[in-house]
Amino acid sequence: MSRSAHPAGPRHADVLPEGHPSAPPADLNHLDRKVWASTVTRTPDGVVSVGGVEVTRLAEEFGTPAYLLDETDFRERARAWRTAFGADADVFYAGKAFLSRAVVRWLHEEGLNLDVCSGGELTTALSGGMPADRIAFHGNNKSVEEIETAIRAGVGRIVLDSFQEIVRVAHVAQSLGKRQRVQIRITVGVEAHTHEFIATAHEDQKFGIPLAGGQAAEAVRRALQLDGLELIGIHSHIGSQIFDMSGFEVAAHRVVGLLKDIRDEHGVELPEIDLGGGLGIAYTSDDDPREPHEIAKALNEIVSRECEGARLRTPRISVEPGRAIVGPTAFTLYEVGTIKPLDGLRTYVSVDGGMSDNIRTALYDAEYSVALVSRTSEAAPMLVRVVGKHCESGDIVVKDAFLPADLAPGDLIAVPATGAYCRSMASNYNHALRPPVVAVRDGEARVIVRRETEEDLLRLDVG
Ligand code: LLP
Repeated sequence: MSRSAHPAGPRHADVLPEGHPSAPPADLNHLDRKVWASTVTRTPDGVVSVGGVEVTRLAEEFGTPAYLLDETDFRERARAWRTAFGADADVFYAGKAFLSRAVVRWLHEEGLNLDVCSGGELTTALSGGMPADRIAFHGNNKSVEEIETAIRAGVGRIVLDSFQEIVRVAHVAQSLGKRQRVQIRITVGVEAHTHEFIATAHEDQKFGIPLAGGQAAEAVRRALQLDGLELIGIHSHIGSQIFDMSGFEVAAHRVVGLLKDIRDEHGVELPEIDLGGGLGIAYTSDDDPREPHEIAKALNEIVSRECEGARLRTPRISVEPGRAIVGPTAFTLYEVGTIKPLDGLRTYVSVDGGMSDNIRTALYDAEYSVALVSRTSEAAPMLVRVVGKHCESGDIVVKDAFLPADLAPGDLIAVPATGAYCRSMASNYNHALRPPVVAVRDGEARVIVRRETEEDLLRLDVG
């Protein structure tokens, strides 16, 4: 799913099976800045540190597996997005990537808004202190209860996803004596070049109302008629882990086309458009993501050009990056348990976590990198598959990578770029205990989401 396939290079045909990265990196001790959080470095004694704290100390204090989150990097990325889009646009961090109260506080402090897509995320956002008017509420099947909670709290916008929801939200708002600001999510018919499960703008899928066949225009017609709703704009999210801006270009063209039709039919110029999230990050050295300022420049130019062509006032733009902010800021620290060389195939390295803390490899064929972080090694590269401890052969964390041949049980290895959609999609499969998220900054580490305990598991088991 990451764009990185298998890098070109000399084939080690005699030792390597099909479907492996064809060449080991020149130096296994080297940490590629592209995939590691900004304060991650190797100390002179060879141990990797983050936020000024060595991973060996973090493992001792917090155990493994653990997600280690570089708070400085998180804040820097959030700020970079905020600055890149400036005062005339809004950046909504997509909470589904990873949400906790500490994260909500950082976002608030850095001037970002927040996109939530469930009652649980809304509760976390409010409880972390995000002002309700800076929250956008998403989802294709929000319950009446969730809608009521959101409207009562005063969320800044609800993104409507279906004809039923238009009526439902209007009804709840009216019954509360309120007029709710809303956007309508449309599908623009763009094929985003990403994994099928995370592409969301083609028409044959559950999100949004299709532009095709006049359905989106009909949704607008209905929303404009309902007293409980204040329609402020149109929303489009084309998918995730996208590198190519052309999908956004087509999406903006079609969204602006709809704004023009709305102006022509109703005499109303909607003031906002939201182009969603989905910007890709580097999972391996082969990925080359764009910087927020490049993305902002490209999106602003596209929208201004389209609006000029349609003789519309340029609407206020909002974006919803999740992965691009939190993804690169964390890595998962594991301890190596067993090492199983399979002659002529590869070596299986089993760690103390697995698909319960990172489902993305199994679900999307995602590619990740891995490094030995508790020491350096001058040993030859060995082709490995990093696997978890679950009762499932698809329990793969890193499909193909190189680690030093002297790797031994007890070594610590780390998988970078696991800040997004790893803890937030973690499960209790095999009654695994979900790992903690430890935020590290300026030499200090603090747990922001604690490790689950067996008592937590038993507490839910009330039979
Ligand atoms: N806005 C909307 C309406 C979304 O549905 C999403 C992601 C985002 C923003 C944030 O997208 P991001 O910038 O984080 O790519 N679990 C999958 C990704 C599913 C994302 C769903 N919606 C994964 O692990 O790749």
